[in-house]
Amino acid sequence: MSANTIADNRRMNRFDDRAEVWLFGYGSLIYKADFPYLDRRPAHIRDWARRFWQGSHDHRGTADAPGRVVTLVAEPGTVCVGMAYLITPEVFDHLDHREKNGYLRCATELFLADGGRVDGLVYIATAENAAFLGPASEREIAHHIARSQGPSGPNRDYLIDLAAALRELDADDAHVFAIERHLQELIDADGEEGVRDEGGREAEPAAGTAPRD
Ligand code: SIN
Repeated sequence: MSANTIADNRRMNRFDDRAEVWLFGYGSLIYKADFPYLDRRPAHIRDWARRFWQGSHDHRGTADAPGRVVTLVAEPGTVCVGMAYLITPEVFDHLDHREKNGYLRCATELFLADGGRVDGLVYIATAENAAFLGPASEREIAHHIARSQGPSGPNRDYLIDLAAALRELDADDAHVFAIERHLQELIDADGEEGVRDEGGREAEPAAGTAPRD
């Protein structure tokens, strides 16, 4: 099963006439900026909610045992806090590859924390992509994350790093923090080395030195 979006994203030409483009990051793009940028500022977008509803086949899980990572779902009135990066268009080659497992570049209005409003792009994995997992309770999501890992490392590190980055931004995200609490309960109950899934199976050992995102 493939959800590769690289070709679709190459056809996204909305900002082709611009020398610089704002990108909004709301997941690993907040805490792992492995690309060059000209400027970086806390920001938010409106009417979108961050949800651990996207499957990860290539970073925090595998095609056979996907991890769970965040995407955005439309939710009128909700504010999603993240990080805005001003980048040059060449950077999209790297980003399209990194976000290839179901994410599409979408145009959005960004509200910079210092008051500016700019047009830009955000990567969103919609319900139509093959890797989409959809809703589950926050407890179930924590169990799923606890037992998942992929080439970029344990799924739980994605959650823990995202929650820490959101705290640094003073972002109140009830969904992410509830999943983090459930994960912590699992770790407290079973120990760092032996977080168990719902069926009592022990999680595989951590992947070690692979890059995280
Ligand atoms: C993002 O961070 O903006 C997209 C989702 C991810 O790569 O975690």
